[in-house]
Amino acid sequence: MHINPLEQKWLYVSFGMVAIFLGSILLTAVTKGVHPPSHIETIDSASLHLTEEFAEDNLGVHQLADGRLQVTLVAARYGFYPNHIELPADTPVTFRLASVDVMHGVHAPMTNMSTMIVPGYVSEITTAFPKPGDYPMLCNEYCGMGHDHMWSKMTVVAKENWHGAPQAKVRGDRS
Ligand code: CUA
Repeated sequence: MHINPLEQKWLYVSFGMVAIFLGSILLTAVTKGVHPPSHIETIDSASLHLTEEFAEDNLGVHQLADGRLQVTLVAARYGFYPNHIELPADTPVTFRLASVDVMHGVHAPMTNMSTMIVPGYVSEITTAFPKPGDYPMLCNEYCGMGHDHMWSKMTVVAKENWHGAPQAKVRGDRS
């Protein structure tokens, strides 16, 4: 079979690109713990405020009975509620997020806290923040005219300056 040399060159280029992309996914998965979400839990977005967990009074940072930290956030056009949270550095934190309206995303730059928030599902990520500081939490899925202004603040304080969090009244549905 005859293959045109130019065509062959581009075949190598395209296979090379696939190899680079797969390689970088593998590398970040192995070294940075970046992985696709595996958590599937449904929720009715329209009645989010009537659920126990995502009711207004239960949002924010809470400590579970076993000592773990859980952050419950609602994403809505255009913000995350509550719009400021404080967390200790170097501590595993489980975020549970749900949207009341359309698809949003959340991303704290320079960290691996990032996920899509699809209406009808609870997004869950567990991560830890090694460096104290102020981080923005940005919406990274276009959600309407105010998308650019959809962000809130996360303050990470050194472990020894952490003031603690109230006990969780509601525990997320997970093991
Ligand atoms: Cu929410 Cu963009």
